[in-house]
Amino acid sequence: MCGIACLVGNKRAPEECYNALEKLEYRGYDSAGMALLTKEGIVIHKKQGRVENLKDFAFNSSSNIVISHTRWATHGEPNEINAHPHISQNKELALVHNGIIENYKELKEKLKEKGVNPVSQTDSEIALEIIAEEEGTVLQKVKNALKKLKGSYAFAIIDKKTKSIIGVRKNSPLYVAKTTKGIMLASDIICFNSLADEYHLVQENEIIQISKGKLKIFDENLKQVSISFTKMMDVGHIADKMGFEYFMEKEIREIPAVIKRIVSNYQDKKIIKEVVPFFNDIEKIVLIGCGTAYHACMYGAKLLSSVLNIDCNAYIASEYKYSKPIISEKTLGIFVSQSGETADTLGCINLFKEKGAKTLAVTNVLHSAIVNMCDGKLPVFAGAEIGVASTKAYVAQILVLYLLSKHLENPDYELIEELTLADKSKQVIKIDKEIVELIKASSKVFYIGRGYDSISSLEGALKLKEIAYISAEGYPAGELKHGTIALIEKGTPVIVFATEKKLFEKTMSACEEVCSRGAKVIVVCAKDTKIRDEFYKIELPSCENEELESILSIIPLQLLAFEVSKGLGYNPDKPRNLAKSVTVE
Ligand code: AGP
Repeated sequence: MCGIACLVGNKRAPEECYNALEKLEYRGYDSAGMALLTKEGIVIHKKQGRVENLKDFAFNSSSNIVISHTRWATHGEPNEINAHPHISQNKELALVHNGIIENYKELKEKLKEKGVNPVSQTDSEIALEIIAEEEGTVLQKVKNALKKLKGSYAFAIIDKKTKSIIGVRKNSPLYVAKTTKGIMLASDIICFNSLADEYHLVQENEIIQISKGKLKIFDENLKQVSISFTKMMDVGHIADKMGFEYFMEKEIREIPAVIKRIVSNYQDKKIIKEVVPFFNDIEKIVLIGCGTAYHACMYGAKLLSSVLNIDCNAYIASEYKYSKPIISEKTLGIFVSQSGETADTLGCINLFKEKGAKTLAVTNVLHSAIVNMCDGKLPVFAGAEIGVASTKAYVAQILVLYLLSKHLENPDYELIEELTLADKSKQVIKIDKEIVELIKASSKVFYIGRGYDSISSLEGALKLKEIAYISAEGYPAGELKHGTIALIEKGTPVIVFATEKKLFEKTMSACEEVCSRGAKVIVVCAKDTKIRDEFYKIELPSCENEELESILSIIPLQLLAFEVSKGLGYNPDKPRNLAKSVTVE
């Protein structure tokens, strides 16, 4: 889950790499560093914390050949020693890595026996020394060393001897492009935005070598092969907060525009018609994702099973992959991922492909691995989402799954109420200060609901946990009394989603149960719904179609988490221990 940006260009390469690295911070921000090839040899500069800590160095250094890295720590605490790049003990190579080397402990022992004592706690330094100890040219060293490494990697390596950068990858993304600044290697094509017209996704059996003005690609036998480029696509103005202090707020406030875009793009039915054949002659549907995307899968599974007469279930990718799943050619896998790069989700797609099952991606990033791997796609059109906490992308995912289910239920279904959803969503981008203060002062919060509302409860709680660091539990309202209600004390806030009309009375019973144990109840429901005076109310515009009301219901809760996080003095865009794109298992 780290970001890699490398350049062979003019003397300002450190500055250009810095600019690229800033765009990759969504992949991790525990530490940042760069390695420069200079007349004196390889110079390393690295710092704990954010990329901005490299700015002075990058803008005051010169080198034509630079590799740089922003880290989300896996092996080894996030300090300066463990920061990348690592330099080999013979000072000939420097390396940055995104991924995990699973057999690093065993390799470390072997290196120690040979007298090589790594200085960091990382798996990445071990990979570097394994490469460095191989015989031959740098290409031969890399080729031979890769056979010894288990796990996932995108490596970029400076080779002092050939004055070049080597790039390879396995299960981690790495792209290369000839840009106006030189030849660039990076974890995401956002680094090439407005600098290149085309890019190449490094293939898993390729080794890239970049030297001054030259880009060469070799196959696994080190035979030079030709390069196929893909046209650059618009990846949005990712660095622009549009006057907002935080991306997260900007992204929540963009939701009405996102809804409008989705409804208009899906209205002509062309996108959905392309995937309709995926639903022919299947026996079950499996929806897979992680975190927020998993919640969208739960939503999708419920929607699809309500319209198709077959088994539709949602699974957490990291659990599904190791659960001996039953997949046949008649199983359809739907993979939901904002980034399209989540390693656990990608791992599951491979299982489906092995069994000859059909695969469908529901994603926001159209150049991502998920789109490359799946047979079909449903774009969610949320636009670049930078805040680590997913907001507009979640609303977009569930809306797209909703539109899909409506079409599958009735191909002639005309969008009518859906056309009003964007305007209705504007009305819910607000939150009562009193509720914000109540949550800020609490050490635990419960979110409950039934049916679709129980999924919103999970998602609402996840938002609060990840950016405000308050213990929050999302729970089905009917299940509370079977144990969890024991945690309710005087003053504990309980946020109750109540958009499902047929379940309303039952949901209200849960409100009474927690209220009589001292809870402060906050009900998320339609404006005209009658609730007890002592309950707080988060009002939703009434929708005839209650699934649409439920889609709207998460928005004020996203804003609540944002306000609480900001109010407690945290940075909602960069929550501790997290990264936007989780590219390790
Ligand atoms: C959302 O707020 C989280 N940051 C996280 O759960 C995220 O949804 C998850 O990591 C999946 O990411 P993806 O959608 O890019 O696959």
